[in-house]
Amino acid sequence: MRSGIPEHKIDEIRDATDIVELVSGYVTLKQKGQNHFGLCPFHNEKTPSFSVHAEKQIFHCFGCGAGGNAFTFLMRYEGTGFPDVVKFLAQRAGIELEFEQEEQDPDSARENEALFHINEFAAEWFQESLFADSGKPAMDYLKNRGLNVDQIKSFGLGYAPPGWDNLMKRASETANSEDALLLAGLILQNDAGRRYDRFRDRIMFPVWNLSGRVVAFGGRILEEVENAPKYLNSPETAVYHKGDVLYGLFQNRDAIRHERKVIFVEGYMDVLSLVARGVANVVATSGTALTEGQARLVRRYTRNVVLMYDSDLAGLAATLRGADVLIENGLDVSVAELPAGHDPDSLIREQGKDAIVQVANQAGSIFEHRLNQILETEPKNRTHGIRALLESLTRVKDMIQRSVLMTRAANQLGIEEKVLWAELEDLSRKRQHQFARRSEIGDRLRDVGKGSKPDRSGKAVDDLVRILLHDWSLAEFVFNHLDLSLVGESDKLSVLTYMRNQHTGGGSPSEADFLHQFHDVGLAQFVVGELHTEWEDGMDLHKWAADCINALQRDRIQRQIDILREELKGAADDPARVREIVKELGELERLKQAHISC
Ligand code: CTP
Ligand code: MN
Repeated sequence: MRSGIPEHKIDEIRDATDIVELVSGYVTLKQKGQNHFGLCPFHNEKTPSFSVHAEKQIFHCFGCGAGGNAFTFLMRYEGTGFPDVVKFLAQRAGIELEFEQEEQDPDSARENEALFHINEFAAEWFQESLFADSGKPAMDYLKNRGLNVDQIKSFGLGYAPPGWDNLMKRASETANSEDALLLAGLILQNDAGRRYDRFRDRIMFPVWNLSGRVVAFGGRILEEVENAPKYLNSPETAVYHKGDVLYGLFQNRDAIRHERKVIFVEGYMDVLSLVARGVANVVATSGTALTEGQARLVRRYTRNVVLMYDSDLAGLAATLRGADVLIENGLDVSVAELPAGHDPDSLIREQGKDAIVQVANQAGSIFEHRLNQILETEPKNRTHGIRALLESLTRVKDMIQRSVLMTRAANQLGIEEKVLWAELEDLSRKRQHQFARRSEIGDRLRDVGKGSKPDRSGKAVDDLVRILLHDWSLAEFVFNHLDLSLVGESDKLSVLTYMRNQHTGGGSPSEADFLHQFHDVGLAQFVVGELHTEWEDGMDLHKWAADCINALQRDRIQRQIDILREELKGAADDPARVREIVKELGELERLKQAHISC
């Protein structure tokens, strides 16, 4: 078990916990038979669609699709990980956990700890420097922008003074290792081997993860000068992946949960400026494209995302297209329209908190927004936009929402609704085969030496799980033809393996079986969402499953081809080996073709 806590202990804790009683501590429940109903804590609603089943010990919301067991309920509600929840529930039930093993392998755990430690050391020193006399220009700057001392402290803001080796010196005085500084990207090394501080004369914004550890920094220049970047950022490290953080989420998570809504803004300063003036349910995407990682993070607290970006932003259109990844992950996305020339920071400074709250409340669904944009273009230039909109709609799992939008789009665009539906279905089908295209793009990228790890088969694996959740009778076919070793690093591998074992044992898992099996909020959500989604009739699931398996096999062949091609490059002076490789490649290509055409 990933948590390092023995399985039998986990069972013991689960048996000792009554989910109805547990949830009642957070949600007011009313009993109706075996079910207890209440207002869902994971989305905003006025009539209860959240139910807890006493006998099955699971919960499910018919409104937003949340679902799981006692563990996953708390993980979502508190936004914490499985081990913490297990410990909490063990304590609550009076069960002792004798010892806890490390979750990760000791080497990487040690490296991560070293990174956290050095970042926190640096954050402390930056903060000291901000509050020192020499930090006055930086402090004045922050105060001028409306921040107060409490806030400066709660966000851990700091100042890296001018000079090439302040941080390095401080590290050596305090027995902190220079290598750790280098690993964290806090210092750099030039070609001559000389080391120097990365951040000099900059206001420092520590970036925190959800456990409250400092994983990275952004450094803002005090006065903007030409040719100097306004922000410098830490590089990616073992503990920092740009796509997996949202600036401000750690500090603002309670406000987000409370408001049942999160506002996405562009910059660090937007977050701080809004928080300073009383709008705390806000995070920054920090100038990066939206990612699945961010969707997962924020989904722990709310499903409602308001994008509040500067409307003049050149990248706004791209950002809106990038929002598909949020929609796909079950979030409700709306778009706030800031008055021209404003960003969130300037608007709240000029017009106060209410202006921001109003703009956020008036934000309409992203689909409406995109539909309006299409309506603003000449009818003859709309095709591309309409298709992009439909393509986004294929990601909306809620059929009613989809249907409402289709009717509205048809009416407003003056296009027959059935034409739009036909196009939508066509796009859906294409999307089902997208993994094939995606892997080809991956190959091309690899050929030019970029693209380190294309996401080749994830979609096919996801689809197989979905198909089996909808039609268990296909398990026979799937597990007779699918070699699980074909499944790469998918988070669904555990689900497929569980399904395979159930199938081998002649079982047919129920919803409750699944929800007690997976202590991962994302997986539980995925499973429950699928189990409660109706699919259109007449889909050929058997063929779809075959396509998926085929794609996985093809991917493996392609991987073998890639490896051989690589080897071929290095084998130029060994003619015998070259002949062998070429022969093998020929066979693999034939195999691949066979898989494409069947
Ligand atoms: N950013 C960056 N590197 C840059 C410029 C911007 O990493 N050279 C990122 C930062 O995370 C920044 C965000 O993009 O917060 C948005 O940029 P911008 O709106 O320019 O920054 P603000 O945080 O709004 O800062 P300010 O208002 O002080 O200009
Ligand atoms: Mn700004």
